Amino acid sequence: MNSDEILKKIENVLNKAKTEFNQTIDETSLEEIYKNYLGKNSLLNNILHSMSNYEPEIRKKVGMSVNNAKIEIEESYQNLKEKLKVANSKSNNSLKIDLTLPGIKIEQFHQHPITSVLNDTVEFFTSMGFEVVEGPEIETAHYNFDALNIPDNHPARDIWDTFYLKCGLIPRTHTSSVQVRTMEAKKPPLRVIAPGRCYRYESVDATHLFMFNQVEGLFVDKTAKLSDLKGILESTVKHLLGVKKTRFRPAFYPFVEPGLDLDIECVFCHGKGCSVCKSSGWIEVIPCGMVHPRVFEYAGINPSEYKGFAFGMGFDRLVMLKYNVNDLRLLYSGNLDVLNQF
Ligand code: PHE
Repeated sequence: MNSDEILKKIENVLNKAKTEFNQTIDETSLEEIYKNYLGKNSLLNNILHSMSNYEPEIRKKVGMSVNNAKIEIEESYQNLKEKLKVANSKSNNSLKIDLTLPGIKIEQFHQHPITSVLNDTVEFFTSMGFEVVEGPEIETAHYNFDALNIPDNHPARDIWDTFYLKCGLIPRTHTSSVQVRTMEAKKPPLRVIAPGRCYRYESVDATHLFMFNQVEGLFVDKTAKLSDLKGILESTVKHLLGVKKTRFRPAFYPFVEPGLDLDIECVFCHGKGCSVCKSSGWIEVIPCGMVHPRVFEYAGINPSEYKGFAFGMGFDRLVMLKYNVNDLRLLYSGNLDVLNQF
């Protein structure tokens, strides 16, 4: 090799070293490269060693060039080392975790009390062979009243404080509107419950809202008896509220005959008398009765062939009794301080 070729070789080594440094991102490979180019057995040292047979003039030239290359490589190495050090300390900082800090509390999901009691009710009735049906919240006067044996201008309409829409439709005042709709749509025997929202023109207080939930029940077959109604409703309040002491009182609803109200022993005073039960010891929970023959006729079912019973649970009331809530508005407030207590 002549001196030019050797100098070219040195330049190539230098360039190669620089390229390798440029591609390095971690300190271990940086050290590795450093060793290759400036260590004992490095390429540059090998070139120097092979110079013993060359003219002193050439040896001097090559020696200088090797030294310059070494200086440049050393500089690149030091620069890069510094840069990697800074970069690493930055990323270490961002990864630092203080294990003693309190954790972030994850909010636990739970159902609204109305939803959970409703789900429980649906499960209870479906286990007895009942099916869930639905009807529209905005009803015709036909299904809300007429077909339930409550003709226009009949004083019984006053029982339901009704909102009337401009178009003549009615936000349903009770889920009983689903009774005739169901009997028209399905052939008996029938076992259905119809949960849903109802609306009444009430002044709002602790136990009344203009919107509330009801669960209607309808049972129709050839042998349905009052004792079946009693048995089902008694086991319902036992299941939902854990109440064993109940009584049935006669009541008037135009679409049932006889009509009844199921009372439970007051859950607050256990029958002794308190402000909630107005000193009577009893709380009215489920209006009910045997389906009126005229309602069957409206629905196209022969009343001498079929019998049935119906009930309409004021659902929010049951939830209040179950959880001892004294103001209905709390259940609908959306206030998490209240809801998280359930
Ligand atoms: N629909 C009645 C009401 O809301 C309750 C009821 C339902 C009564 C079924 C008897 C039978 O007041």
